[in-house]
Amino acid sequence: MQAVFRVMNCFIVILLCFCPLGEQLGTTPNIRDIVIGRCYDYMTLNPGTRYDCKDIWWHFETMILRQPSCNVTVEDYHKMFHLMTQNWPCDTSLLWSKTRALVHSYAAVLPHLWTLEDTLVGYMFNDLMWCRQHEDTDFDFGACPEWSSCQNHPVYSLWLLASQNFAEMACGNVTVLLNGSIGVAFNRTSMFGSVELDSLSPQRVHYVNIHVVASLMGPQIESCSQGSVVELIQILQTRGFRWTCTDNDQMLMMLQCIQSQDSCRVTKLKSTLFTHLN
Ligand SMILES: *[C@@H]1O[C@H](CO)[C@@H](O)[C@H](O)[C@H]1NC(C)=O
Ligand SMILES: *[C@@H]1O[C@H](CO)[C@@H](O)[C@H](O)[C@H]1NC(C)=O
Ligand SMILES: *[C@@H]1O[C@H](CO)[C@@H](O)[C@H](O)[C@H]1NC(C)=O
Ligand SMILES: *[C@@H]1O[C@H](CO)[C@@H](O)[C@H](O)[C@H]1NC(C)=O
Repeated sequence: MQAVFRVMNCFIVILLCFCPLGEQLGTTPNIRDIVIGRCYDYMTLNPGTRYDCKDIWWHFETMILRQPSCNVTVEDYHKMFHLMTQNWPCDTSLLWSKTRALVHSYAAVLPHLWTLEDTLVGYMFNDLMWCRQHEDTDFDFGACPEWSSCQNHPVYSLWLLASQNFAEMACGNVTVLLNGSIGVAFNRTSMFGSVELDSLSPQRVHYVNIHVVASLMGPQIESCSQGSVVELIQILQTRGFRWTCTDNDQMLMMLQCIQSQDSCRVTKLKSTLFTHLN
């Protein structure tokens, strides 16, 4: 338990904001230095990896500043992603939806698990904003358009391609973390439900291990046997995946206990494992 506390204390949660961003938020100040710095940082943290950080930035900047902000497609990022290719071992991919509060502490206590933010592209662009000025060829540090008002938002397109790549690369066991305390735990139009799920390959993936986690104080709205998670399981089964589904996995409930200041009711929430072997 003490080890868990230590990891938690040292761990800085990096938030990846998939929420709609207000008009007032412009390109992140010093974005060039941040992106290039994080790239070097990534190579230091992952010995043996080699990337041309300045070349990656040059491709990024040139492409973004070439065209209007709402016209940056997934295809526009292909060249840059080509400079950032990486392989990671099987049994490591951790996908999640609406469980941001928990996912990074889970990955911290199970360090073999990788989230999108542990990949080079995720690490470099996490929590950043960028767009071009309307009529000019410089970044707009004053304001960027909202995702919803944009056909092809430069930030959205990058995360779309990054999520797709991340799921396509997944092999062996894949872990999925869903939120059992919201109305729709599995949302077919979320990044997980639309992009990542469709990009998983039944040939490469051995098991999809789903964890539905309710907040400590509840409510328990969704679970492995009711609501939208059943729909997810049906999709997996139709596509020929093997799967397991666990409600309120004990380690995940314990992590929530550690995070919260309130007293814990872990033992009162039922923990159940469902399995299906194809
Ligand atoms: C938007 O992108 C498309 C395809 O790359 C291009 O044909 C079109 O001219 C662009 N529109 C503007 C306004 O730049
Ligand atoms: C589930 O969603 C609720 C509401 O958005 C949030 O407060 C809670 O932290 C989420 N639970 C987890 C485990 O992320
Ligand atoms: C993969 O998942 C299955 C089902 O949960 C489990 O039995 C197996 O041990 C896992 N394998 C690895 C390598 O984690
Ligand atoms: C599902 O996700 C989409 C995209 O994030 C969102 O607009 C929609 O409100 C969500 N639906 C529900 C029922 O939460």
